[in-house]
Parts: sequence; structure tokens; C-alpha cells
Amino acid sequence: MIKLNKRLTTISAFILKNDKVIDIGCDHNLLAIYMYLEKGIKIVGSDINSEPLNIARNNLLKYDLSNTLELRLGDGISTILGEDTIVISGMGGITITKILDKINDYNIKKLIISPNDKFPLTREFITNKGYKIDSEIMVKDSNKYYLVSVYLKGNEKTDYFFGKLDNKNQDNIDYFNYLIESNNNIINKLSNTYNNKKEELKLENEMIINYLNME
Ligand SMILES: C[S@@+](CC[C@H](N)C(=O)[O-])C[C@H]1O[C@@H](n2cnc3c(N)ncnc32)[C@H](O)[C@@H]1O
Repeated sequence: MIKLNKRLTTISAFILKNDKVIDIGCDHNLLAIYMYLEKGIKIVGSDINSEPLNIARNNLLKYDLSNTLELRLGDGISTILGEDTIVISGMGGITITKILDKINDYNIKKLIISPNDKFPLTREFITNKGYKIDSEIMVKDSNKYYLVSVYLKGNEKTDYFFGKLDNKNQDNIDYFNYLIESNNNIINKLSNTYNNKKEELKLENEMIINYLNME
């Protein structure tokens, strides 16, 4: 029995039996090990650095999966060999957008993306590559919020700030309340020299409150 953190467990739920998945930046490769042991689904682990891949290799040995699960060494999506679904998680939004820059050179039907930050920027970038947000959820793990988004091929513009986060889901509501509180803390600390920034944050809070109140 292998236990994943809440963030990776959420990601695992979006991987379906027929998806041919590569986990870019697999690090320890625990997602792949979990998917195989718990759901019988094989996914490929890929990483740019040999150090995490050595840890991944040891993890495969530990679970007797060295001959079952594949690891690849290389930069970003350059290691794809026919997979049609990509997982990228646990990295900053900017790193993720750099990795996905050449996404249209590959035949990818589905992306499961979990950036640590820069959520609107990540959404805008991937949407502009010809993918639409299919579903999204905010996950609170170790006192930090992580976005998990599933993209499918298609053209559908979504608001980059709110994405497809359901305003009735409690984790999403908690995240937006946390944003309002962080904005208020900044507003209270800023001197009047930063009135423009204060106004911007106040407007953002109003926008969030309106969103939370929407039926
Ligand atoms: C913080 S770990 C995240 C591990 C795992 N995906 C997770 O969500 O817990 C980031 C991993 O991404 C790898 N990485 C960073 N840039 C990469 C790139 N351009 N291509 C492939 N892997 C990369 C790092 O070597 C590291 O192992």
C-alpha cells in the first residue's frame, strides 16, 4: 500500500484507464507506482535530472516494478514517445509554460496540470495553445493551495482568474477566502504611496466576492 499526498491523490483521480500517460518531472515517481499498484495503470515517468531519476529507480526496485514501469531522462516533453496524456505537477507556472511551449508538435489529447503558482498565466498559456479547461479543483495540502486542472483539445475561452473553479466547492471557497485575506493584509501594510496597488487589490477582492455570491 502506497500513500500519496492529497495533491497527487487528486491528480491520480483524473488519470483514466485508456490514457497513455507520461509524468513530466516525475521526481520520485510515486504517482506512477501508486497508479500501477492501486489501479493497474502503467504511466511513464520522465525527468530532466538524473538525481531524482535515481531515487525513482530505487523506488521501483523497492516495489519490484523495475521491469514494469519505464523511466526516461530528458528535458520536458522531448521524452514523449507516443503518449497522449501529460501530467506536470509540483512546478512553478512559468516552468510549466516553458515545458509546454512546443506542445503543438505532439499529439496530446489531455493535460493534467498542477502549478504551484501563477494560475491565471498558466491557464492563459495553455488555452492559447488550443486546449480548453475541462475541470479544475483547488487542493489544500501542507497548508498551501495547489490548482489541479484538466485540459482537453478545444477552443473555449475561460476567465483566466477563476478558470473553472466551482464557486460552491468548499476547497475552492476556502482558497478564495484565503486570497481575500492575503490581499487585505497587503492593503493594510502598504503606505499611501501605493494607492494604485491598494485599489487594484480592493477591486480584486470585490471581484472574488461577486464570484462567490454568484448562483
Ligand atoms: C518538485 S518536483 C515535483 C515532483 C512531482 N511531479 C510532484 O508533483 O510531486 C519537480 C521535478 O521536476 C523536474 N523538472 C524540472 N524541470 C524539468 C523539465 N524541464 N523537464 C523535466 N523535468 C523537470 C525536477 O528535476 C524535479 O524532479
